Formats: sequence, structure tokens, C-alpha cells
Amino acid sequence: MVDFHSHILPNVDHGAASLDISIQMLNAAKKAGVTKIVATPHFYSHKDSLHSFLERRSTAITELRNYIAENSSIGIDIICGAEVALGHKLLSHDLKQLTIEGTNAILIEMPMFDHWQSWMFDMLYEIESRFSLTVILAHVDRYGKEKAERLLDMGFLAQINAESLVRGSFGEKRRMRSFCKNGAIHLIGSDAHDISERTYTDLILASKKLPRALLSYFEENALDILAN
Ligand SMILES: [Fe+2]
Repeated sequence: MVDFHSHILPNVDHGAASLDISIQMLNAAKKAGVTKIVATPHFYSHKDSLHSFLERRSTAITELRNYIAENSSIGIDIICGAEVALGHKLLSHDLKQLTIEGTNAILIEMPMFDHWQSWMFDMLYEIESRFSLTVILAHVDRYGKEKAERLLDMGFLAQINAESLVRGSFGEKRRMRSFCKNGAIHLIGSDAHDISERTYTDLILASKKLPRALLSYFEENALDILAN
């Protein structure tokens, strides 16, 4: 399985707070059958500098990859990425530096405001046209029914958190699975931050409970994106 959204890198954002936590997250991911993790620490353009973010991320990824190289039984590749928050200052940055490693794809998080404004939707298209990137919408399940439907209608690639497929109400799970079945949602992620609250538990559950065909669909989409 490819975990397409994880805050496993140590000391970059409010995800893993130490290498030890990252290692425990790796071991949990292994239980879900994860072989690749797209590491997506938060980048907030309104309060972080791109240079500082990239430096922190580079230190963290080296640290984690060194541990994995010395412990070959882990068997998980870490792919460098970011969860990029949409915001007014975003387009002033060179967004090509925030793509998922080896691809032209960028994981974008929409604001958690009550009301979305039209500039936010315009910016999604602008990210694609100005920087020649492919937008992947992060955790479309977290915005509520109306917003999720509006986003999915726009036709971008979309990632869903495992939580909504295994832990939501019956109706919610059915609705989200039908989006996946209809090809509106393409990727699954843990969005794991730690080992106590936002953990790998739901991805482990998803690996056991979701239909094989759906898990294969997520895997194939992830591998296609990472191969380009
Ligand atoms: Fe996240």
C-alpha cells in the first residue's frame, strides 16, 4: 500500500515530534502493509519561509532515510512531499519546490474556513496553469459534504483519509466509497501525525476491511503518479 499523506518526518511540523516517534509510526505503517510513504509535512505560506521549510524537511528526511537504510527489515520507502496550505501568499513562492518528489504533482490543503471564496477555487487552477503542476486535493473527506462535492466536481485528483472509509457513519462511509468507485477520489492516506491521537490505526483497519479492488485501485493510482 502507498500512504499518500503522512506527517511522519520528525520535527518539521506538528507531526512526529522526534525520530523515535517517526520510527514507531514506520512500524505501525508496516502493519498496514505500507511499502511507500509520501511524507507531507505542512507548509503554511503565511507563517513559514520556503527556505526554512525546505531545510527542516531535508534534515528530517535524511535522518529518517538513514535509519531505514540501517534497518533494512523496515522495507518502506520515504518519498519527499509537502501538504501545501492554500493561502493568499502561496503564488509568490516557487511551487515547483513543493511537489511530490520526482513528479509534477502538488498536494494542496484547502482552508478550514466556514465559507470558501471564489479566489480559492481560482487559485487551484492558477497553480496548475502558472507552474504546470497537477493539483492533488488533500483529505477531501475533511471539508464536509457540500464542499467535498464541489471540489470533486472540479475534476482535480483527490486524496481521502483512511478514517472516513472505516470510521465514519454508515452513510458517510457509503458516500465516500461511492466517490472512490466512480473515480472521483484517487488516493488514500493515513494523515498520521503521531502514535497517540492521529495514528496509523485507521489505515491498518482500511487494509483489512476495504475491498481488495479498492485497495488495488488506490495503489495503482499512487504508483502511476509517482512514476511520472
Ligand atoms: Fe495532513
